[in-house]
Amino acid sequence: MTGPEPTSAEEAREAVVVAALRALDLDTKTRLLAGQDMWSLPALPVIGLSSLVMSDGPVGVRGVRWSADAPSVALPSPTALAAAWDPELARRAGVLLAQEARRKGVHVLLAPTVNLHRSPLGGRHFECYSEDPYLTGVIGGGYVSGVQSGGVGTTVKHFVANDAETDRFTVDNRVSERALRELYLAPFEAIVRNARPWGVMTAYNSVNGTTMTEHHHLVEEVLRGEWGFDGVNVSDWTAARDTAGAANGGLDLAMPGPRTVYGPALARAVRDGRVAEATVDAAVRRVLRLAARAGALAGAEPAVTEPPAPVDGAALAREIARRSFVLVRNERRVLPLRPRGTVALIGAAARDARVLGGGSATVFPARTVSPLDGLTAALPDGTLTYAVGADPVTGPALDDPGFTVRAVCRNAAGEITGTRSAPGAAVQWMGTDLPEGVTHDTLDTVELTGTYTPRESGRHTFAVKGTGAFTLTVGGTTYYDGAQRPSQDDPSGTFFAAPVPRAEVELTAGEPVEVSLTHAVRLPEDLPMKVVTFALAHSGPPRDADELIAEAVEAARNADTAVVVVATTERVESEGFDRRDLRLPGRQDDLVHAVAAANPDTVVVVNSGSPVELPWRDEVAAILLTWFPGQEGGAALADVLTGVHEPGGRLPTTWGTLADAPVTQVVPVNGELPYSEDLFIGYRAWDRAGRTPTYPFGHGLGYTDWAYESLETDGTTVRVRVRNTGERPGREVIQLYLSPAEPAPDRPARGLAAFASVEAGPGESAEATVELPRRAFEVWDDTTKAWAFVKGSYEIFAGRSITDRRLTAPINV
Ligand code: BGC
Repeated sequence: MTGPEPTSAEEAREAVVVAALRALDLDTKTRLLAGQDMWSLPALPVIGLSSLVMSDGPVGVRGVRWSADAPSVALPSPTALAAAWDPELARRAGVLLAQEARRKGVHVLLAPTVNLHRSPLGGRHFECYSEDPYLTGVIGGGYVSGVQSGGVGTTVKHFVANDAETDRFTVDNRVSERALRELYLAPFEAIVRNARPWGVMTAYNSVNGTTMTEHHHLVEEVLRGEWGFDGVNVSDWTAARDTAGAANGGLDLAMPGPRTVYGPALARAVRDGRVAEATVDAAVRRVLRLAARAGALAGAEPAVTEPPAPVDGAALAREIARRSFVLVRNERRVLPLRPRGTVALIGAAARDARVLGGGSATVFPARTVSPLDGLTAALPDGTLTYAVGADPVTGPALDDPGFTVRAVCRNAAGEITGTRSAPGAAVQWMGTDLPEGVTHDTLDTVELTGTYTPRESGRHTFAVKGTGAFTLTVGGTTYYDGAQRPSQDDPSGTFFAAPVPRAEVELTAGEPVEVSLTHAVRLPEDLPMKVVTFALAHSGPPRDADELIAEAVEAARNADTAVVVVATTERVESEGFDRRDLRLPGRQDDLVHAVAAANPDTVVVVNSGSPVELPWRDEVAAILLTWFPGQEGGAALADVLTGVHEPGGRLPTTWGTLADAPVTQVVPVNGELPYSEDLFIGYRAWDRAGRTPTYPFGHGLGYTDWAYESLETDGTTVRVRVRNTGERPGREVIQLYLSPAEPAPDRPARGLAAFASVEAGPGESAEATVELPRRAFEVWDDTTKAWAFVKGSYEIFAGRSITDRRLTAPINV
């Protein structure tokens, strides 16, 4: 093991852990290794162990309830955090999340997600940082350090090669050892070595024939053996399938529970001789260590005794958002907006903000600031108009504010046994989290009952999300009485499946109508977790798409500047499935073409977690990529558009069209997904293919200009001097790329070696001093099974993106 020497505090904590372990019998130990419910482990009062509670991550802390009445701060998406290219900002995000976790009684945050942007089609692209393993490792390391400095654990996930969603439960990703080492394992390695995470989550998928929850080589030999990881290895939810396979493969915790392959089944496996008791002890010891670090084991001093100073979550969310926005185009310096000019704000997402991506990364912020809210507050009265233009949401939407409903539980005799609020017209009750007075044994039906108040008159559609038997009644008429089946072969299919339209009803604006959706709860006995989940969705009367575009064009024509917000939707970017294309949904591209034709000063704000195609990019004056900007996104947008702050982001991933994207295969064939591109993903692949992307890795403009004045290096330290030649103060991300002088077919032409940020006022210069990591000169040697330092000549260049080289210097090592 190559981990650092333990400190005396760690030794003292470890002594308490060992004593606690000795006090437990086999049945208790194996019980501790299985979730007692969806999110927690059993408490063991005999050793002073409280129940350890885990929660998603990564942009907030959802807590044990999946509901809008348990709100959490919502930070910008991980792609956004990475776009700030600032590990210190990531650390501060982590400190805030630890504060949220403590507030909600959570000991372990199920984050960060450090899989790579192998293909832009990956459904959870928005939830990962970058296509570059170095940038991913640095940002992830900052995040982990921040969370843990607040006394809360992390689980770096999903170990490893969970880079797409299609058949994620069963897919066998075939990856060379070299690509694993140089790309997919690299962020995990950097984070384990530099930030010492208290946990790792193993993925659903297999790698080279072995499912990750049983992967002895990668877990025991690489993660623990080579890197010295001393934390807990928790399964992704329901990923553990085989008792002995998982235990012997190095999996400590099988989540969720209570039905898992651990617990009594693991005790039996020990008694049958299929698993050594020492293996169970090692796992329990790691779980107790985690508990001790997090302050959940009596007698052990927690890793953090004084929580850090309180953080203002809304202010930090706003700061990260503006620091993450990437200005990829700004012709004629149309941005920042002219003071007192008129603005036509266009786009459904400008009003109904899309602040975060879908799936388990969902949290429920107490408030969201839409672009319309943000600009209304920031611009002088009378200068802003708004038009919908085009709506990316096709089909019924969840969380429609027109619903006022509550959930009513009944037993088999039809008697009411409990009720609960149902914000967003959704029920998501996991495990024992049921309304007071209700148990799974007595729960027969749940009815969402109340009213819907329409904003407009016309034909409204009501839809049902969920699996099982439902009865939908609107205005006294029953429109649906039947059963819905899961649409996907994914353990979380019920969560991520689209709502199904079931009723079309004529309604009058402002007149409430009674709605009732009754679900007969029939949960199979053998489920790993009991989850009652369903929702009512709604879509309003369809508007003529051409008419909406015409209205927006008219508004754009009458304003000095048109700001069009285009967006993806939860049906496009979410966990549980991959994207099929990179197009903006609905008529949004038509809208931008039309608005740009009407107003040369058109600014497009792209609200998507990952790359989308921008077919109109040469027609518009400016393009600002804002990712999923978190709860304060609209306020940050106003800061940046009006020039209170410059946009600080640089692309953490290449933006290009699907037709040009070098790696697009995310669908397994016969259960296997070969990573046949090997080392060539992201900019490495664009370089090799000789293709020019729409916007390259590292690109992003601020509101000032920079001259690169000097670059000096002795081969290990690089000093770069830049000067702010513009008229505003600014911040510059100095990027250093290393290329071997002799091109080799099996080696990427260049790679990000290091980076640093500087700030300078107008006319001022600033210098960054950066150490080149040894790993930048190393390759994984498959023959010796070790890292090999490649001696020879290199070129280092400092630039504003991978294609914008400003200064170069030779390096001989
Ligand atoms: C996701 C994990 C998540 C877990 C718990 C899984 O479906 O892959 O990232 O932490 O659910 O919500």
